[in-house]
Amino acid sequence: MKTKIKYGIVGSGLMGCEHISNINLIDSAEVVAISDSNENSIKKAKNLISNDIKIYSNNNEIFKNNEVDAFIISTPNFTHHDIIKEALKTKKHLLIEKPLCTKLEDCLEIKKLSTSYPSVIWVAMEYRYMPPVQKMIQEIDSNKIGRLKMLSIREHRFPFLKKVDDWNRFQINTGGTLVEKCCHFFDLMRLITNSEVTQVYASGDQSVNHLNENYNGKVPDILDNAFVILDFKNGIRSSLELCMFAENSEMQEELCVVGDKGKIETGVPADASGKNSSEVRIGLRNSKNAIKELVEVDKKILSAGQHHGSTYYQHLEFIKTINNNLKPQVSINDGLHAVAIGEAAEKSIKENRVVKMSEFNL
Ligand SMILES: NC(=O)c1ccc[n+]([C@@H]2O[C@H](COP(=O)([O-])OP(=O)(O)OC[C@H]3O[C@@H](n4cnc5c(N)ncnc54)[C@H](O)[C@@H]3O)[C@@H](O)[C@H]2O)c1
Repeated sequence: MKTKIKYGIVGSGLMGCEHISNINLIDSAEVVAISDSNENSIKKAKNLISNDIKIYSNNNEIFKNNEVDAFIISTPNFTHHDIIKEALKTKKHLLIEKPLCTKLEDCLEIKKLSTSYPSVIWVAMEYRYMPPVQKMIQEIDSNKIGRLKMLSIREHRFPFLKKVDDWNRFQINTGGTLVEKCCHFFDLMRLITNSEVTQVYASGDQSVNHLNENYNGKVPDILDNAFVILDFKNGIRSSLELCMFAENSEMQEELCVVGDKGKIETGVPADASGKNSSEVRIGLRNSKNAIKELVEVDKKILSAGQHHGSTYYQHLEFIKTINNNLKPQVSINDGLHAVAIGEAAEKSIKENRVVKMSEFNL
């Protein structure tokens, strides 16, 4: 019989706590250690855990804890590079929150250092594991809509939340909005198209959010809206529309894929809508009627986080991968490419031009 997977959480803020709440729902896993430099974060995380745990204020100590099987790195983006390098020395399984690092150059170093790593390294890309997205991918893979030609993702949501020490207000800490959060969508696009991006054109700005905020004399410098157009090697074209001043949306994300035989549409309900289901609609060109299926998320799973159940489902896959000695579903290479595309999109906006992926040393 397999014993429980014992997790150590490095960084127990918003996302660290979401991981804890979801691990709490899984019988074959438990959190045994937490490391965070902020007392308030430790306190909140501790309140979620009923078993005995070890608390550390220093990562060097948690990385020496031999009881831990898998570390989750859920610290601010700009800390990932250094923390991952330390974590790699433990040889334990690692689940690293996105983005892998804030810069491609740092991701490349991590890739190099992790060659022949003996355990699982997985970059957390929760959007892959949202039930309606999973259903859409299954339908694409079963060739329902023929050969894929176009893919669009629209995210209309609330502004960036407040984080511990407001680290997410500045590009230098996050990598920029198109790296920080849109790496999720670029990862999803690579997964769905099963291809690599050749070129990126983006238009975006900080038009509304955080303009009246001031941190020690500095005004935040993060984009809050953008359009990004991406071309893939296999001829599929894709677009991302991001708006972060659209709180009152029913769907936070809307996805549409079109093949030569038909299209699939679905969405992820905004948390505030309280909805736990979304429709996956398949419209074939040679039929008047659409095939519609409602995909639901268990309310207990939904309420364990802010990512439509995906953190829970991702942990089930992560644990399965560990227990069965499988390859990670989201590799360092996937995390690295998602950052590179985000970096290309940020560059496209700054330089007002099409950016070729061949400009990057991938
Ligand atoms: N996958 C997703 O959908 C998703 C959603 C939100 C956040 N994230 C990612 O999760 C990570 C954490 O984000 P968050 O929203 O929880 O931020 P947060 O500010 O709420 O929490 C970060 C925590 O890390 C702690 N911390 C800072 N430096 C540390 C260090 N060197 N060692 C240990 N702890 C340290 C802070 O005290 C804080 O408690 C980020 O990389 C973010 O991009 C992912």
